[in-house]
Amino acid sequence: MTVVTDRASLATARAALTGTVALVPTMGALHEGHLSLVRSAKAAGADHVIVSIFVNPLQFAPGEDFETYPRDLDADVTALRSEGVSLVFAPTREVMYPHRVRVTVSPGPVAGILEGASRPGFFDGVLTVVTKLFHLTTPDIAVFGEKDYQQLTLIRQLVTDLDFGIDIVGAPTVRDADGLAKSSRNAYLSTPQRELALTLSRALHAGAADTVDPLGAASTVISDAGDAVELDYLELTSPDLGEPVAGDQARLLVAATVGSTRLIDNIAVTLSPEFTAHSSPRVHS
Ligand code: PAF
Repeated sequence: MTVVTDRASLATARAALTGTVALVPTMGALHEGHLSLVRSAKAAGADHVIVSIFVNPLQFAPGEDFETYPRDLDADVTALRSEGVSLVFAPTREVMYPHRVRVTVSPGPVAGILEGASRPGFFDGVLTVVTKLFHLTTPDIAVFGEKDYQQLTLIRQLVTDLDFGIDIVGAPTVRDADGLAKSSRNAYLSTPQRELALTLSRALHAGAADTVDPLGAASTVISDAGDAVELDYLELTSPDLGEPVAGDQARLLVAATVGSTRLIDNIAVTLSPEFTAHSSPRVHS
């Protein structure tokens, strides 16, 4: 496995990779969820997997956790080596953004809801860095987790609308045994906060089990947790996030803050014919 930090070394190492190449973009602090993305890349037919590790300043607003975001490159490299990754690209901020940022990628309306409503500019930052990573690594395939479902949806729109010719693979969310979705930010949670954080996955699973009123079922679980779980949004949408719910497939998405840690999660929901879109209103804090 080759580890590179500058553009010239990346270009040389990339040129040596033949066959189908997959990119797994990450911000490091790797956990089992990230490693599952590497395995998904191989399952999708990649002969070589490139993993990028870069905490992207463009997707953090002032006051968010850019400075404190967990970073452990040595541990990440060790984990990736045991997964048979071919190339790791771990640039500095200066390598990634050698100029003042002048041009960014502007996502469509799906970026204005859910995460985008709470974190304005977040998806501009994500799509901009992902575009740069696509250009720098020229992958055939790129893998993103369903845990960040809105991000995955917008990246699919990016490659379709801007003709990237890259296959986007969505990988299922990896959860701890008790249901908590794996996230690098789980490291911020104390033991009692982690217990409260389980409310999100419990709410989603209760919602998915109620095919008539998923939002109502999920909302009850959140309410029962009390004020310590500060709800940002709980919404039931179409699977592409762009249309009102129609048909029997939907996505239930939640964001909440526990302590000072903002957590997100989502689940697929199959609706019964008795479901009506107005059986429960959208739930916001
Ligand atoms: O999902 C993430 O970790 C980041 O948003 C990504 C895709 C690596 C872009 O910085």
